[in-house]
Amino acid sequence: MLTAILIGFMGAGKTTVGQALAETLDIPFYDTDVLIQQQTQQTPGAIFAQAGEMAFRLQEHAVLEQALAEPQGILATGGGIVEQPENLKLLKATQVPVIYLDAHFGTVAERLMGDVTRPILAEKSFRDVVELYQARLAKYQEVASLVQPVDNRTPKAIATAIQQELTHV
Ligand code: S3P
Repeated sequence: MLTAILIGFMGAGKTTVGQALAETLDIPFYDTDVLIQQQTQQTPGAIFAQAGEMAFRLQEHAVLEQALAEPQGILATGGGIVEQPENLKLLKATQVPVIYLDAHFGTVAERLMGDVTRPILAEKSFRDVVELYQARLAKYQEVASLVQPVDNRTPKAIATAIQQELTHV
């Protein structure tokens, strides 16, 4: 079984924290965006641009299911993983701790400013991104079994805190 699944908005640090955690625990690290890229030979940006968001979401659902079947590891998910009701079902049903990396909007906004690699940002206005953040917040909270605040903390400190929490669940 996986050790943990990290969820949260773009820029919350899911990949960086997940890598640090996997390294400390000496287990594999998986990232839904990377799995999609490996399987389709296309970046998320290219899939969004050529086939549309829905095509990306279908791929994302498929890799989430596959990753949940891995015998061990840490899984970082894309910020939009909570967009698909099927994914919410999977995340609620799994025995794997689902950890919400809780970043204030100001934190992610600062990190995402000028980002040209994330297709969601390319398509949306600032106001749209604020709305997206607010709409997703409830969904992250709904499926999370643990919440980890990330503002003003280093990835290493967050990984250590998660590791400690995991030993208590
Ligand atoms: C998305 C987030 C991205 C990636 C895709 C869509 C989203 O992942 O899956 O660009 O809808 O929030 P990160 O959260 O790792 O940036």
